[in-house]
Amino acid sequence: MGKLRLGVLASGRGSNLQSIMDAAGAGRIKAEVVVVFSDNKDAFALERARKAGIPALRLDPRDFGSKDEYEKAILEILHEHEVQLVCLAGYMRIIGRVLLEAFPNLIINIHPALLPAFPGLHGQQQAWDYGVKFSGCTVHFVDEGMDTGPIIIQAVVPVYDDDTVDTLADRILEQEHKIYPEAIGLIAEGRLRLDGRKVFRV
Ligand code: GRF
Repeated sequence: MGKLRLGVLASGRGSNLQSIMDAAGAGRIKAEVVVVFSDNKDAFALERARKAGIPALRLDPRDFGSKDEYEKAILEILHEHEVQLVCLAGYMRIIGRVLLEAFPNLIINIHPALLPAFPGLHGQQQAWDYGVKFSGCTVHFVDEGMDTGPIIIQAVVPVYDDDTVDTLADRILEQEHKIYPEAIGLIAEGRLRLDGRKVFRV
């Protein structure tokens, strides 16, 4: 079996993209990033991809008449690079029906909180403001909701009394960089089974 072909969608700094490229480059997962796409021309993720010799493309959503049109253009790019699994890594748009239908249960996301708690933007800040004693991160399949899809892996981190939201976010990010490649590795090896909204390892 060849390597699973990953298309990564990112809007920002791309540290999760980097962790995936590093794991793939080191042969820790049977996958390779074949294209990186962004909606944001200033995304550092694009820079990281180019440095690694991976095609990095950006389309401005404002140049398209609708979300469907925009996603069709993204789809073309993903098909052109024969992407098999789409990984959202800090991609700041809700995935719509065009991409969901083209990649059924083949789009995954990383979220910086223990879902279903604190979905949406700024998961770390939400957890911090709430005063939880533990938080963490979640890799999940993407469905039509906001951070609602079946959970693949979660990692838990403690919240200490002398934390700031930034130290907490750093502790969570460290775990993100571990569990995202791990989840991709499991998918690449066909070791996940989806039953309703439950994900089992096989
Ligand atoms: C991460 O915290 C991720 O969980 C969230 O967006 C952030 C992206 O960070 N979805 P980076 O661009 O991967 O560094």
